[in-house]
This record gives sequence, structure tokens and C-alpha cells, in this order.
Amino acid sequence: MAYVGILGHGTVGSGVVEVLMKNADSIQKRAGERIVVKRVLDLREFPELSYSGLFTKRFEDILEDPEIKVVAEMMGGLKPAYDFVSRAMEAGKHVVTSNKELVSTYGPELTQTAQRMGVRFMFEASVGGGIPIIRPLSQCLSANRVSEIQGILNGTTNYILTRMGNEGLDYHTVLADAQKLGYAEKDPTNDVEGFDSTRKIAILASIAFQKFIDYRQIDTEGITKIQMEDIEGAKAFGMNIKLIGSARMDESGEITARVSPCLVPHSYPLSGIFDVFNGVLVKGDAVGDVMFYGRGAGKLPTASAVVADIIDIVKKSDFKAPILPVETQDIVPDTEAASF
Ligand code: HSE
Repeated sequence: MAYVGILGHGTVGSGVVEVLMKNADSIQKRAGERIVVKRVLDLREFPELSYSGLFTKRFEDILEDPEIKVVAEMMGGLKPAYDFVSRAMEAGKHVVTSNKELVSTYGPELTQTAQRMGVRFMFEASVGGGIPIIRPLSQCLSANRVSEIQGILNGTTNYILTRMGNEGLDYHTVLADAQKLGYAEKDPTNDVEGFDSTRKIAILASIAFQKFIDYRQIDTEGITKIQMEDIEGAKAFGMNIKLIGSARMDESGEITARVSPCLVPHSYPLSGIFDVFNGVLVKGDAVGDVMFYGRGAGKLPTASAVVADIIDIVKKSDFKAPILPVETQDIVPDTEAASF
């Protein structure tokens, strides 16, 4: 038996418990052991959570349990996630997280802690929900010099732009639906102002370019200023408006990055990505263009990526963990007009 402690029983955390239970037999075959959720920490006051010995409000119940070797953090935010994750690794436990705030802010430090303690720090679910993108960038494309990454990295904003375009619905109605469906963050400012996409492109660029990119340096504009007229105008010219995060590294090693709404012609690969789907286009010097596509947000898609990391740890796969470099590189503002 491999015992897991879950931090956070919200949309993603409850999805992880569900997937581990629903697919227990096939997961056991892949992992080589039965994976069992031993404790679930949730700090919120939900009467329905108090019914079983599974739930706790004390982090120490997980930290001090020697049987729990893997901690999966899906609380989001930095506090108390950073503290819990650091202490779990210091106690010799592997950590899996879906938390892009945590990875984009403390990723290099947490990677070093993991290396020092001989444990793994895995974060496939932090970018692109259920899309495999961290592993492919870290591993499958490692032979390439990556020159550029472009992505639709936020399901909520893509869902809003899609429904505004297809159904003529106003922004606030569609945002409320995205929140009901569990796509949007607790505070949707991070989604609609583009900050969520900024953290995600910073994580991808840091892995691809092997220099840590501080998301706070990336020029960011969200979708809140987009009007129906803009969407209709784009359509009339055979284009869609998409919120694109992009990062480029030129021959001299200079890195530029930004997040902004862009006009994308229908013929361009990222144009055909609608609703909650995300898409990431990676340009490598050997492989050429590679596209990754799938559900970028939501309970089960994101849980799919978290559980894959847990399985990798339990089966002690050869893929140790993605490396977030400690060396930081300042980026230069992207002044070119986005063109596709
Ligand atoms: N709020 C995020 C999104 C969730 O809409 O993409 C996944 O990171």
C-alpha cells in the first residue's frame, strides 16, 4: 500500500480522491501498489467533511504520519501551501502540486529542497490542467533548443471569449457560469486580468529555457476591456480574439515574454481552441512545431495530471522530477506586435 495525504478538498482535491478511488485497480497495475488516500486536510468549515476520520484540520496529522509518503497539495495560493509543502519535503515526503502560484514563486527553492532531501517535487497539473506539458518539455523535447512557446493557458478566459463570440452573451453572465463549473479561481481577477496565464507561461519558459523567469516581470493584459464589438470585428476579418501567453528566446539568449489578447487568424493552430480547452505550441529547432491540446481546467482533467504524478512517484519511475533552475534571467519587454 502507498498512502497519500491530500491538502485541500476543493474542486481539484476532491477530483484527485475521486480518480484514485474510481480507477483504483488500473492505477494499482501501473503503480505496482495500491494507492490509498489516508488523510485529507481541509481548513474550511464544511459540516459534511466532519463525518469521517479521513478528514482533518491539523496538518500535523499528515506530517507526522510515517505511513504517508506522498503529499498532494491542491489548496492553491501561497499561504499556508508554501509552509506545508516545505515542511512535508523536509520531513522526507514527496510532494505533488497543482498550485501555479506556488511553483511560479517558490519553484526553484522547492526543487532544491526536494533534491537535498532526496524526494520528488512534481507539478504537472500546475500548467494546462490535464494536458501533459511539463513532462514533455522537461523530457521528450530536451534535445531541442526551444525558441518560442505560445499558449492559451487559461480555461476561464477562453471559455468566456468563446461563449461571447458564439452566443453573443455578455461577459458577466459567462464568468458566473465559469465559476459555477469550477473553472475560475476563487478570485476570478487572476483569470480575467491574465495573471494566471502569466504564472503559467513563466513556469513553461523557465523549464524550456532553463533560466528562472520571474512572472512579475511579464507584461500582462487580461480580457476585461474586450467588448462585443471587438469580437464581432475580429470575426468579420476571419479572426478570433484569444488570450495568448508567449515567451521567446533569441539566438543571443535574450528572453521576451508577455500575456495579452491577440487577433488570431482562423488558419493558425491556436485559433481552433475553444471553451475550457487550452493549447500550447512549442517551437523546437529539431522537432519543429509541436502542439499540446486538452482540457485546461476543471475537476477531473486537473486531477488526471495530479494522479499521474502520484503514480510516477509510487512506481519510482525513471522520470525523477522537472527541474526549475535557480539561475534567474531578467526578461526584456516584448514590444513587437503579436503576429500569427
Ligand atoms: N482558473 C484556471 C483556468 C484553472 O481557468 O485555467 C486552471 O489552472
